[in-house]
Amino acid sequence: MLSASPNTGGLTAACARAALEAAAAAGADAREIRLNGVGVGLCRACGDGWGTCLTGHRCQVEDGFQEIHRQVVGADALVLVTPVYWGEMSESAKAFTDRLRRCEASAGEASRLKGRPVIAVAAAGGSGGGLVSCLGSMERLIQHLRARTFDLVSVNRWNREYKIRAIAGSAAAMVRELSGSAG
Ligand SMILES: Cc1cc2nc3c(=O)[nH]c(=O)nc-3n(C[C@H](O)[C@H](O)[C@H](O)COP(=O)(O)O)c2cc1C
Repeated sequence: MLSASPNTGGLTAACARAALEAAAAAGADAREIRLNGVGVGLCRACGDGWGTCLTGHRCQVEDGFQEIHRQVVGADALVLVTPVYWGEMSESAKAFTDRLRRCEASAGEASRLKGRPVIAVAAAGGSGGGLVSCLGSMERLIQHLRARTFDLVSVNRWNREYKIRAIAGSAAAMVRELSGSAG
């Protein structure tokens, strides 16, 4: 699970905790990677727009990205939890996923995330606006990665209680499906 808020006590953290605990309770070896403060810089659009991401499917900008990329492609399933900032994913989520997309989307059908189930969670704790655009860009990311959208979950301050239960239900269902015990 990738979480992307600098706030360890907010709505995003509560959503992330629900997913992690439910996945673990369903039998997964579930881990959270917090994308803030782990030294993942921005894509530099190397060369005339592409660097080693295009043909080598790895990022030539050496920083915290490589280790997280390695862990992500090694996971059976992903949960991406972000706060909604300006109707978009947070900056830390964007920084990581922009580079991930370049490395994996450029591999086409050989994307290491092909078919991988993904739950995307957007937490809009302010006005509650921007959920659709945020989830829309998360869905496009999943499509570019050739992964599979298992669920898209919108959370705001008013639906928090039952949406957190929905996140837990979604994470547990994804683990059950992977372990062959769905239904
Ligand atoms: C730069 C910035 C932009 C934000 N934009 C939105 C927004 O478009 N819609 C919204 O509902 N909340 C917005 N918020 C509020 C956050 O979504 C809200 O604080 C959310 O709960 C943040 O996650 P956290 O609980 O992990 O801190 C914004 C917050 C920040 C810091």
